[in-house]
Parts: sequence; structure tokens; C-alpha cells
Amino acid sequence: MSTADYKTMTTAEIRRDYLKFFESKGCKLYPSSSLIPEDPSLLLANAGMNQFKEYYQGTKTMREIGATSCQKCLRTNDIENIGDARHLSFFEMLGNFSFGGYSKADAIAWAWEFITGTEHLGLPKDRLYMTVFENDDEAIELWHAQGVEYDHISRLGEEDNFWAAGPTGPCGPCSEIYFDQGPEFEGEAPGDDGDRYLEFWNLVFTQYDRQEDGSMPELPHRNIDTGMGLERIAAIMQHEGSNYEGDVLRSLIHVGEVLASVRYHSSEAVDKSLRILADHSRAVTFMIGDGILPGNEGRGYVLRRLLRRAVYHGRLMGVKGSFLTSYSHEVMRLMADVYPQLTENQALIDGIITAEEERFGATLDAGEAMLAGALGDLEEGGVLPGELAFRLHDTYGFPIDLTVEIAEGAGHATDMDGFNAAMQAQKERARASANRDAWGKANNVWVSLSDRLPETEFCGYEQDTCEGARVLAIVSEDGAELESAPAGQKVEVVLDRTSFYAEMGGQVGDTGKLGGSSLSFVVVDAKHHGGGLVGHEGELVAGELKLGDVVTASIDHGRRELIRRNHTATHLLDSALKQVLGEHVSQAGSLVAPDRLRFDFTHFEAMTADELARVEGLVNAEIFAAEPIVTKVMGIEEAKASGAVALFGEKYGETVRVVSTGEGESPFSRELCGGTHARNTAELGLFKIVSESSVGSNARRLEAVTSAGAIEYVDERIALLGDVAASLKCRPKDVMARVESLEADLREARKKLESVTVGASSDQVASAIKSALQLEGYRCVIASLEGLGGKELRSVWDSIRDAFPADPVACVLASASPDGKVALLAAGTDVAVSSGFKAGDVIRCAAERVGGRGGGRPNMAQAGGPDVSGIPAALESARALLGA
Ligand code: SER
Repeated sequence: MSTADYKTMTTAEIRRDYLKFFESKGCKLYPSSSLIPEDPSLLLANAGMNQFKEYYQGTKTMREIGATSCQKCLRTNDIENIGDARHLSFFEMLGNFSFGGYSKADAIAWAWEFITGTEHLGLPKDRLYMTVFENDDEAIELWHAQGVEYDHISRLGEEDNFWAAGPTGPCGPCSEIYFDQGPEFEGEAPGDDGDRYLEFWNLVFTQYDRQEDGSMPELPHRNIDTGMGLERIAAIMQHEGSNYEGDVLRSLIHVGEVLASVRYHSSEAVDKSLRILADHSRAVTFMIGDGILPGNEGRGYVLRRLLRRAVYHGRLMGVKGSFLTSYSHEVMRLMADVYPQLTENQALIDGIITAEEERFGATLDAGEAMLAGALGDLEEGGVLPGELAFRLHDTYGFPIDLTVEIAEGAGHATDMDGFNAAMQAQKERARASANRDAWGKANNVWVSLSDRLPETEFCGYEQDTCEGARVLAIVSEDGAELESAPAGQKVEVVLDRTSFYAEMGGQVGDTGKLGGSSLSFVVVDAKHHGGGLVGHEGELVAGELKLGDVVTASIDHGRRELIRRNHTATHLLDSALKQVLGEHVSQAGSLVAPDRLRFDFTHFEAMTADELARVEGLVNAEIFAAEPIVTKVMGIEEAKASGAVALFGEKYGETVRVVSTGEGESPFSRELCGGTHARNTAELGLFKIVSESSVGSNARRLEAVTSAGAIEYVDERIALLGDVAASLKCRPKDVMARVESLEADLREARKKLESVTVGASSDQVASAIKSALQLEGYRCVIASLEGLGGKELRSVWDSIRDAFPADPVACVLASASPDGKVALLAAGTDVAVSSGFKAGDVIRCAAERVGGRGGGRPNMAQAGGPDVSGIPAALESARALLGA
């Protein structure tokens, strides 16, 4: 960038100064919201205004004239462009916002004051340019009133100067501020593709509220939403043009330089990889820090894709093993003062990154080998078949963008049409097979029934028995509609209303009976079909059942009671897990059965015994507190505002049931749920976790029991302890002491056995001792023994010393030990050693003959080796060394 005609500021200085400036104007400072937006129409936070949507829409009001923030943002629309000098996925956006509190004129005047004022950015006025929306004369005049010349203001169309966060919601015309890098850069005018004019601040005059149908009614007031890309302005304030040249990203690029021993700006390919790594690793760190976990859809997939692309580019630069945490730690060092959740969640971040990195490393190995083979087979200029790219994606989890990138690197295009066609075909196969469930072709009958019949009314929240229910349909197992149910044949019966809860949200279907004056139909399961129809599956055991019959539907009361308790327990468990492990815990599936419950949730490592105990303790405390379970039906918005936990990715209707423990403002648990629940937590009696295991990547599974199930579990454990105590012949409370004393006995017995083993070989020991040679200054026993290990040879050495209590003595012993290996020992008394016996030397030379190695001190050395046939040679070499 040309001449330094303005000052330099760091990222931290700009951030601080911006927020202070707008606070001084009366805006309220808001912390950044999470990357997971509250607004369900958005995948990820993509602008500072997201968290203020309700203020724009007028459903909330702010006492202050407006707000200011520095917001974490993530945009993925340009993901494949990242790697050039411009695009970023994660970035920080400085913003100031008004919801009718201050005017467009204020926003423009303050923006000008901030960018040109010498106590702030102090940018030279002649290098600043503005664009406005095509017909926004008002904005032109407002800029001009600040002293901006007309030839520094231009008009742009909808594509550039009309802004909306998403397909619906607040939007409006905008005005952008550009910095002129100077004529040495390419570019004719603000808004073109060149690098000369850099856009760094967008002032949106949010006026409309776009609806699903495309209409745009006016918002209750005229608003302001401005956004300044912090990376961009940092690069400008550091006299560099590229987003990646600001201090923060430059530090991250440096991590890659060190890891890969390369220099930034040494080649285009290296630059691209370094930039991708800097950007993606920062995005990944922030995403996990906000509780997003790698997955196959939604934001989990975005995370996985960014992480994998980063790993791949590390590999491209030759970085070995897991390395991404070097980046995440640098991100923390640079940014945790502003975003403390990074360090608070460091363990989670490190754990998820490393686990995912290792998993993908293995995928890459397999996929790369296959891809390399296929690319090698292509002729020059040949196109990689889409079918193969699909197989890589489908079987190896190899991302398509990586395939395209690798193929491109080898000079080949990828047949994307073929890839998409294969993908489509697979989707259709999946759809077709989803229609073939246990009731096979019966699906069509359910489609036609749902067109004809009303939704089954559920009266089972309050009643176990539903009288006067009418039989509307009878469907056979092979999908035929029947007039009546033949005795003994499995059928599904549809009623106009029922007390049977059909399997849903993990809660199993009820069992029970449909009864009439002269019939009895046993229900073994209740299932949902399309159109809100409930099928009662079972068979007629007495009498006759016909269309139009009026029956009494009665569920198995006791079984349902158990189910209720276990369902309530899953809610308590969910809340306790969040408290103990963190907010990243999110339910990923459940089973609520009468005898147990199963709960799957996102978490990256096994729970410790202590964590399990704390979770169990929290749930039991809530049970003992005997809180009433309160169920309320309300609007979805009201439910969310009350803090009710909703399942990620689950679609909810306009009105929902909210199940809370107690009436209080902040209950232990509050969830959106259609299931049946205990009336009071005390009904659960006792909660026990019976197992913890892993399910797939980053998910854990807990199984637990309550009430009768918990008593049964505890009884079983107590009975087991009783059995153990009986066979140990002690009282249950003495079991541990008994086990410890048995262990001590066992140790003692083993020791004795060893000495017996040596004792049993006392004959051979005696004859070895007898064979002691007299060498210069000491006696020496050089002998081969049978069946002894290293430990026993040391006992033999003790015996030798005992045999010659007054004389200097040494030994070289070899034995084929019981496990078929050679044990060698050389040892000598101090006098023997000073007379020239060096146990270490002896052992080294003997060990070689048995194919082994060993060593030790001059007075004691041991070795082992595999070659039993080398024992005579080993002893011979010892003799030779000792001059015996
Ligand atoms: N929402 C606008 C943008 O993101 C201004 O903050 O560009």
C-alpha cells in the first residue's frame, strides 16, 4: 500500500476505540452473540444485526438510542474462494444499530467522524469513497453535507447496495464506504472486481421486513444497521490491503509457517494453504467454542468441512500428524481476552479437534490412495468420473470439494453432473427403501386412509381409558383394508380417538386392550402414520371386531406409569448433563421404555466416574425435591422465550407443549415435549445410571433406570454383593478387607512358590556350587541351570554367597526359563569386582550368544535372550573372558 499518510492501529485498538466511540454516542454495548443464532431461519450468525431482529421488528424495545457490538460472524457462501487474499469464513463485525432511536443523518455523520477524526481512524478524506443505493438521493446529500465531494459518491444497484440477513426478515438499502489503495492497484471504481477500492463499512438503512411470500411491508420505524469488517479495517490501518495481512490473521499464518517450515509469499500454492489454514482453524475453534460439533448436516457439517479442508491443506504442505490445536491455541492467545469462552472450553475444543483430525486422517489415507490410482489412470486432460467422486464421498467420507481440488492439482476436471446424478440416485434409493418398513407395501393404504380419515384424537394425557371410540379402519399386515378383523391375524386398527400414545420422540407406544361388549383385541404397539393417524397393532383374541364398532381403548396402566417416569427422567438427565458437562450437550436420540431409558447426547469423551456421580446426584436431588411437573400449551415463540429446550433440527408447530419441573421462573428443566410425564418428580423414586458408552463420533449413550427399575437394579447389585460375601465367607461390609487380605495371601503364596521352585532345584544349585572355580582373587561359579527365570537366578546367587560366607565369590549363571527364554545373571562380591570381575562386561558378551542384550552394574547384571541353544556358547564366552 502506498504512502503512510495516516496512522497505524492494531486490531485490538480499533475494536476498543469503535465500541467506545458508539457508547459515547449513547449506544448500549452488547457482547457478541453465539455463532448459533437464536433466529431459526439462520444457520450461523452472519451479521451484527442478527441478535437484534426483534428490536427491528418492534416486538422488543430498547431504552437506549441504539446498540453497538463486535459480533462473531461466519459466512459460508464463499467457502471455495477462501484461500485467495480476500475471503474469510469467520470474521468479526463492528456494528452500530438503531431501532428508531437515531437517524440516518446521525449514522452517516458519526461514521464520517469515526473514520476521519484524528483521535479515531484518521483516514485521509481524499482516499474515501461512498456508494449509495440507486435512488437514495437522501444518502448522497447526507454524505455531501459531511464534506464528501459528489465525485466520491456513486450509485449501485440492488446486488451491491441492498442488504438482507436471510431470505426473510429486516432488510433495506445501504451505503458502503470504500478506501482507495492507490492507482498502482487494479480497479476503476468502487464496487468493481479490482483491488484498488476496498469496501470496509456497510451502512444499512433497514426499513423493510421481507415476508415468506416476498412482500416487504415497512418496519415499525426506520432503522440503522452498520457493519465494519474488523479484519478489513485492521489491514487498512496496518497499511496492508489484504484481509490476511492484519495482525491477528498474520499471527495465524505464522503458525503454519513454523509447522510446515515454509515462508508466506514464497509461492501461490503455499500462500493459499497458509491462508486456508489460518481462516478455517480460527473458524473451527470459535464454532466448537460455541458448542457446535462436527456432524453430517447443518452447522455440524459446515464445521466438519472447514476442519477437513484445513487438515487437508496441512497435509499438502507436508505437516505430519495432528497439528490443528497449534492453531486453536494461538487463536486463544490472540482472542480469548475478548471471547473468554475459548479458554473456558479449551478442553472441549482440543478434544473435538484432535478426534476429528485423527478420524479424517485415516479417511484421507484411504481416499487419497484410491483417488491417486484413478487419476493415474486418466489420460492427459481426462475428466474424473462423477461416479468415482461419488463413491469417494459415499464410502470414504471424502469431501467432494477436496476431490475436485486434488483432481485439479493433477490437471483434471471432475464430472460434477455425474457426481450430482449419482447423489440424486442414492437419495431416491433411500427414499424408496424408507417406504418399505415392516408393514411393507401397506404404506399406500396409509396414504389413502390419511386423505379420508380425520387425525386420531389423543386423550391419553389425562385418561388411561377412552370410552366410545369408533373403529374407522382395519389394515392387514400386507396392506389391505379389511371390513373386520379375523381372530388370530395381526392387524392395525384406527380409532377416531384413543388413550394410546403412539411411539414418538423416543417414547415407546402403549400396549393394552380394545374391548367391547363381546370382543377383546390385544394391542402390542401403537404407531404413528401420516396425517396424524394412530395404528393400534395387535390381534383379536375373542369375539368379532368390525368397522364402525364402538370400543373402549384401555392402555396398560402400570406400564405407562413406568414410561411416564422414565420420560421425565430423560428431561432431568438432559438438564443435569448440561450443568455438569457444559452447554454443548445436546440430545441426539432417546428411548423411553417402561424398564429403562436410553439417552444419546453430543459429547466427545467418556464421562468420568465423578461426572456420572454428579449427574446422578443432581437428578436425584430434583426427585427428592418432589417438584410438580407442569405442562402448558403455548405459542412456539412464548415457549422459546421462556427458555424451553428444543431439540436441534426438530420442527415444531405453532403451539407446543412445554413441560417444566415446577412453576418457577427458572425450573431445573423446561423442554418442548409431546410425551407423557410423571405428575411429580417424586414418582421417579430413585434414578440410577447403569451404563455409559460411545455411539458414533462425538456422541455418548447413557442408560438409566428409575422407580421400580432402579429398585430392581439396586436389589440385583445388593444380591450380587451378598453372593460375593458368601463365597468369601464374610459379611458384605467386610468384602473389601477380605479381598485385600486374600490378595496379600496370594502374594505371599506366590513368593513361597518361587522359593520352593528354587529349593526344588537345590540339587542342581548344590552341584553348581561344588563346581566353583578358583580364579585370581575370587571363586567363580559358572553354570547352566534348568527351568529358572531371572528372579530365581538371583536367589541362586544368594545361595552361592551363603555357601562361601568368608570368601570373595562371583557367578555367571544361565538357565532356560519356564517360558522358553534364556535368563542370564552375572554377579560378584565387592572383592571379586575389585579383583577384576565385571558383571556388566561378562553379561554383554554372554548375552550376544543367546541372541539377546543386557547390562547392569559391575557387581550385578542380567540379560535375557531368545536362543536357548546358545547357552553353552554363552558360558564358554564368559569363561574365556574371565580366563577360567
Ligand atoms: N448487516 C450489514 C452487513 O452485514 C451491516 O451490518 O453488511
